[in-house]
Amino acid sequence: MIDHLEDQLVPRHIAIIMDGNGRWAEERKRPRLFGHKAGVDSVRDIVEAAREIGVQHLTLYAFSTENWNRPSGEVSGLMGLLKTYLSAELENLRSNDIRLRCLGQAERLPMEVRQVLEQTIADTAGCSTMNLNLALSYGGRVELRDAIRRIAAGCERGELNWEEISEQTISDHLYTAGQADPDLLIRTGGEHRLSNFLLWQASYAELYFTDTKWPDFRKAQLMEAIQVFNQRQRRFGRTGAQVQGEAGK
Ligand code: FPP
Repeated sequence: MIDHLEDQLVPRHIAIIMDGNGRWAEERKRPRLFGHKAGVDSVRDIVEAAREIGVQHLTLYAFSTENWNRPSGEVSGLMGLLKTYLSAELENLRSNDIRLRCLGQAERLPMEVRQVLEQTIADTAGCSTMNLNLALSYGGRVELRDAIRRIAAGCERGELNWEEISEQTISDHLYTAGQADPDLLIRTGGEHRLSNFLLWQASYAELYFTDTKWPDFRKAQLMEAIQVFNQRQRRFGRTGAQVQGEAGK
């Protein structure tokens, strides 16, 4: 079924900015929440596809720190969808050996969402085929600020020496501690920006932008993104000749 991925490198970590739900709904003269509901179907499809092809970490930007500023009806609609999704998916996540994690300020979420989120995180803690990171009330700058605060507190307590703070120390204090950085970062919906998403972790990610709006982004579109990823040469600051020399060894 996934023959066309033969000989293709599957990114270890794929991160997605799921944009375009609102416009997708508006095109159909429907309320924005209709687009978010259709977006949940894409979430299901992409989680299943990513696990099937062997992605190890999938990070979905579901709600940013800035999204709290949306109209309250849209915020509560999104929270409701999240709660329903988590309640409905628990068995599916477990049977597919998918571990759920939350990146972001979980404490800002409404209590009933937090409860089901924490329960799902606890109930899938033993799963190891794929990590599903939901970025919820997530902001890259707040994540970095909090990491810096914790590192500074560690220095003050004498547990860390400021001269020994390395890039790894910073990575270890982010929500994604212990996970590989994204190899491929996808943004749907036609905009070309990072919107405060994984600012540290995405330093060397290949960026893939598509006009396809999130509710229309399904397995076939994911495969296309992976094919484009495979055509890119990741140089990590080295020259093309160096990279080709390494590959020939
Ligand atoms: C951006 O589209 C999308 C969001 C802010 C929310 C994404 C949420 C979902 C896909 C559904 C819930 C998620 C889970 C994990 C169950 P937009 O509203 O900014 O679209 P627009 O740019 O067209 O207005």
